[in-house]
Amino acid sequence: SIFSTRYKTAYHFRPPRNWINDPCGLMYYKGIYHNFYQYNPHCALWCWGDITWGHSVSTDLVNWIELEPVIEPDNPSDIDGCWTGSATILSGGQPVILYTGGSRDKCQVQNLVLPKNPYDPYLREWTKTGNNPVIQPVVPGLNRSQFRDPTTGWIGPDGLWRIAVGAELKGYTAALLYKSEDFLSWTIVGHPLYSQNSSNMWECNMWECLDFFAVLPSNNSGLDMSVAIPRGAKHALKMSMGYFDKYLIGVYDLKRDAFVPDAIVDDCRLWLKIDYGNFYASKSFFDSKKGRRIIWGWSKEADCRSDDVAKGWAGIHTVPRTIWLDSDGKQLLQWPVDEIESLRTNEINHQGLELNKGDLFEINGVDNFQADVEIDFELTSIDDADPFDPSWLLDTEKHCCEAGASVHGGVGPFGLVILASNNMEEHTTVHFRVYKSQQKFMILMCSDLRRSSMRPGLCTPAYGRFFEFDLEKERKISLRTLIDRSAVESFGGGGSVCITARVYPVSLVDDGGAHMYVFNNGSTMARVPQLRAWSMRKAQVNVEKG
Ligand code: FRU
Repeated sequence: SIFSTRYKTAYHFRPPRNWINDPCGLMYYKGIYHNFYQYNPHCALWCWGDITWGHSVSTDLVNWIELEPVIEPDNPSDIDGCWTGSATILSGGQPVILYTGGSRDKCQVQNLVLPKNPYDPYLREWTKTGNNPVIQPVVPGLNRSQFRDPTTGWIGPDGLWRIAVGAELKGYTAALLYKSEDFLSWTIVGHPLYSQNSSNMWECNMWECLDFFAVLPSNNSGLDMSVAIPRGAKHALKMSMGYFDKYLIGVYDLKRDAFVPDAIVDDCRLWLKIDYGNFYASKSFFDSKKGRRIIWGWSKEADCRSDDVAKGWAGIHTVPRTIWLDSDGKQLLQWPVDEIESLRTNEINHQGLELNKGDLFEINGVDNFQADVEIDFELTSIDDADPFDPSWLLDTEKHCCEAGASVHGGVGPFGLVILASNNMEEHTTVHFRVYKSQQKFMILMCSDLRRSSMRPGLCTPAYGRFFEFDLEKERKISLRTLIDRSAVESFGGGGSVCITARVYPVSLVDDGGAHMYVFNNGSTMARVPQLRAWSMRKAQVNVEKG
C-alpha cells in the first residue's frame, strides 16, 4: 500500500521487509563491507525467540545486497534469540563473531561463530563452535538475565585479547572485562573495565551494546583496536541506556587495565550522547580501507506497533558516520561518510541571504522528501543573546518545547523548516538559538517534531542539546540535514551535535507535496553566507528479490 511504501527510506539502511534493530558485527573484509544486524525474518515486530543475525554486504556503504541470515536460534545456548554482539578481525586476518544468546533457562550467555570459508569475501556461512557458550554468567552477584552484547576485541597490555560485556551486578552496572589467548576460552579479569553505582543511574539501566575504542586528539583518522594502540591515544566508552547512546572520554590505564574517564559526572543524565534524538544501540568499526572509524545506530519507528504490522517493516540504521575526537579532546564529532554524497543531484545554491526577524525564505528546486541541505549561519551580533539558565540542562527537551521555533528571541531561533504542508499545519523544524552564560555562549540546537504530522499515535518530541561555542572566535554555525522520507538526520556545529528523528508527514501519503524554508525569529539579523541543497537519489538498499 501507499502507506507502507511512502515512509520507506530511500537511502538509509533497512531490509525490504520485517523488523530490524541493532547493528551488530560491522566490518570491512577482503574488499567488502559487512553489516550484520538484529533481524526478525518473520514479521515487523521484535519477538522473543525469533531474532537472527541478518546480513548485508556493500562495496560503498551506500548500496547494499541482502544475503541469508548468518546466525539463527537453533540450540540450547541461543534458543531464545541470537542477540547483539560484535565482529573482530584477529591478527592473522581471520574474522570471528561473539554474540549473546538467550538460552533456554532465561540466561544470557556469550557464543562464538567462525566463518565456514574464510576465502569467501561474502562470508555467507558461519559455524557455531562446539564450545558454546564460551562465556557463562557465573560471576557472584550477577543478574543472569542482564549480561549481554560483547564488544569487538582489543589487544590488552599483556598481548592477550580483551572484550567487555555489559552486566548488572548487585548495586552496580558494569562493563565486565574478559581476556583470552585464542578467542575460544575466556577468563574474567578481577575488576571491570568500568562500572558505576546504580543509585546514580536515574532512568538508566544496564549498559547495553557497549563499544570501546581509541581515538587520537587532533587527528580524525581511526585506530585499529586489533593492533597495539599508539601512545597519546584517548579512549571512548559508549553505552546504550534508557533511550540514548551515551559515552565517556578518558584513558585506558594499561597498568590497571581499566578505563579512567577524564571527568566524573555522577548524574548520567548529563553524560554526552552520540546522538540526541531517536538513535540507539550504535556500533563502530575501524574501516581499514580508508583508515577511519565509522559508527552507525538503530533508529526505531516512532509510530505504533499496528502501523508497523501494516507497513510490514520497522527500523532503519542511520547513515554511516565517520567519528573522531574534537581537537580539545572533550567530545566526539561525527559526519556522514563522504560516499553518501554520491547520491546528491540537482544542486541549488544561495549566497548572502539576510534573514531579518520573521523572515521565511523558501528553498525551491529540491525533492523535499529526499534531500541533503548544508547551511552556514553567520551571526551579525551577539549582544542581544538572551541569558542562559543552567537548570535547562537537566531537561533540554522541555526547554525546546518552551522555546520553540516560533517563539521570538534575541539571537535566534533560526534554522530550517522542513516537510511543511501548504498551510504549515504540518512541519518539522531544526533550529538554533544563542544564549549568553557569564563568559561564554551556549547554543541550543533543537529538532522539533511536535507538528511533524497530523496523524495521531506518533511519538513527536522536541529533541535538543545545548553546546558551548566560542562565538568570539567563530561567528559561523553550520547545519547539515539529511531528509529521507520518514528519517531526518541533523548535524550541528560541524558535527558536534547530531539529532536523528523519525517523522510521518501526511503530505507524504496524500500527494500534498511539501515545502522547505530557512527562517529567523530572532531580533538580530542572521546572515546565510552559503546555502547548498541537493535532491538525493534512491540507493539500492537490500532490494527485494524478484
Ligand atoms: C538493544 C538490545 C540488546 C540486545 C538486543 C536484542 O537494543 O536490547 O541489548 O542484545 O537488543 O535484540
